This record gives sequence, C-alpha cells and structure tokens, in this order.
Amino acid sequence: MSLSIEPTESALGAVVKGVDMGRVPDPDIIESIETALEQYGVLIFPGQDITPAQQTAFSAALAPLEMTANIDARLDGQPEIFVVGNTGAKPVTFAPKFGNDDLEWHTDHIHRPEPARASLLYAKEIPAEGGDTLFACMYSAYDDLAAEQKAQYGSLTAIHSVAGLRNYLREQSEEEDYDPGRQADMPESVSWPLVRHHPRTGRPALYFGAKVTIGIEGWAEETGLAFIRDLSSHATRPEFVYRHVWRHHDAVLWDNRRVLHAATPFDMTRNKRLMHRTTLRETEPVH
Ligand code: OGA
Ligand code: MN
Repeated sequence: MSLSIEPTESALGAVVKGVDMGRVPDPDIIESIETALEQYGVLIFPGQDITPAQQTAFSAALAPLEMTANIDARLDGQPEIFVVGNTGAKPVTFAPKFGNDDLEWHTDHIHRPEPARASLLYAKEIPAEGGDTLFACMYSAYDDLAAEQKAQYGSLTAIHSVAGLRNYLREQSEEEDYDPGRQADMPESVSWPLVRHHPRTGRPALYFGAKVTIGIEGWAEETGLAFIRDLSSHATRPEFVYRHVWRHHDAVLWDNRRVLHAATPFDMTRNKRLMHRTTLRETEPVH
C-alpha cells in the first residue's frame, strides 16, 4: 500500500492518506511515517475509525509509550490513553478560558526527565466552533533569529517545571485545586539546552514552553520570565504556525522535538470536545 502525502500551505504539516491506524504498521509504513514526520513535523491522518486498543497498538509500534501523570485522565482499561476534553468529571483542556491572547504553547513532557518524542491526538468529539490546535515550527523560529541571538541562545539552559503549568492551569480553571499531576518520582524541575539539535536531522530548534519554562539557568527569575515571554511571541508568529481545524476522526501526530503546540478555546457550556492522546517517549538524549 502506498501512502499519499500532501503538505499544507503552512510552515508545517502534511495530510497523510493510505494508513489504516486500525492495523499495526509494518516496517515500511513506519519508515514512511518517520520520514514524513521528520520532513513536515505534523502529520494529519483523516478518517481513522479506531478503538483505544488500536490507537495504543499503532502508537506502540512507533515508540515506547508514556502515560500521563494526571492519573484521573487515564482511560479506564487503557491507561496509555490520555483523555483530553470536557466530557469527564474533571475537564482537561490546555486552552485559555478567555480569548486567544495567552495560549499555553508547549511541547509535551518537556518537564519530565524523559520528554515526549511525539504525540498522537485522535478526535472523538469536536466542538461546532473553536477548539482548534495550533502548531509552530521551531526550526523556522530558530532560523529567523539574528546571528548574535543564535550565538547567545545556543549557550543558554532553560528550566522547565510542572509548577509553571500548574500556575497557568489554576488561573484558567474554575477549580482552585486543578492539578496536572506529578508522579512522586518526577523531579520538581528539569533543565535542557534552549536550542535543541534534532537527533535525526541535526537541525537546531528552539526547545521550551510559554508556561512550563520557568527560567534560564544563572539568570534572575524575573529576567528569565521576561525573556521567555518575548521568545514565545517571536517563536509563535503566524508565519511559523499551522492551525489544525479538527474533523471527526482526525488523528494528528506531531514531533515534540521541533514543534510547539497550543489549544485554542471553545465554548465549554455548549460544546463537547473529546480527544484521546497517546504519548511516544523520547529514547534519545536531548542535546
Ligand atoms: C495535548 C494538547 C491540545 C489540544 O493533548 O498534548 O496539548 O488542542 N492538546 O487539545
Ligand atoms: Mn500538549
């Protein structure tokens, strides 16, 4: 079976047809997917009608899987699936409550010792309006820097913590005690080079999150936070972004090594949104 791969008109993304996620992919398909992921950063697989077990088996053929630290959000009977949405007792959304201005741009599990290499998000129920996901290309954001910025940023180490996420989620949640979860064996913070070289392509990419990154090593807290705010607005400029408007049964796979993503708001009082995420663990060093 041959795949058809059609790039979007944005800096990132391609639509892939000819893959049935209901079957465990053979080595040829895996290689085609890896190559396309390397080239386009975000792959959109429309019209997948799959069960949680099938999504898990397909994902596990690509990499070892990681589970969310938010134990309440693991799917009953299939804990590799992270239930994202507002259909459960406690909503899990990464979107701001008000407007579009302060999005939680991030790359999955950057605050964990083994970050996520890639994530696969599958749309089970989508709102009539809103709830799009944005993806920003961190190769492009890096390439666009001035030479002196490239030199400076290349020497910086950024600090990432679930505390940054927790603060943001608290601001955005009705529930005072909303917690993204932290397993006992997870350190309070993790540090990585701000400029990450992609293990497959060697290309430099900015590696951080707007909220989860809480500082720069050796810098005063306020200076670091101000720097991260400015960097977030640079890195997520519209020319670096692909906006995914979900359709029922879309599955979207993205490369967390070179892509930031952000959820956008939708009216939770009138709409349901339900997504199933599997998370592919990083197996290569971050450097
Ligand atoms: C995620 C995530 C964004 C969205 O599942 O990792 O950030 O739009 N989701 O639901
Ligand atoms: Mn995410």
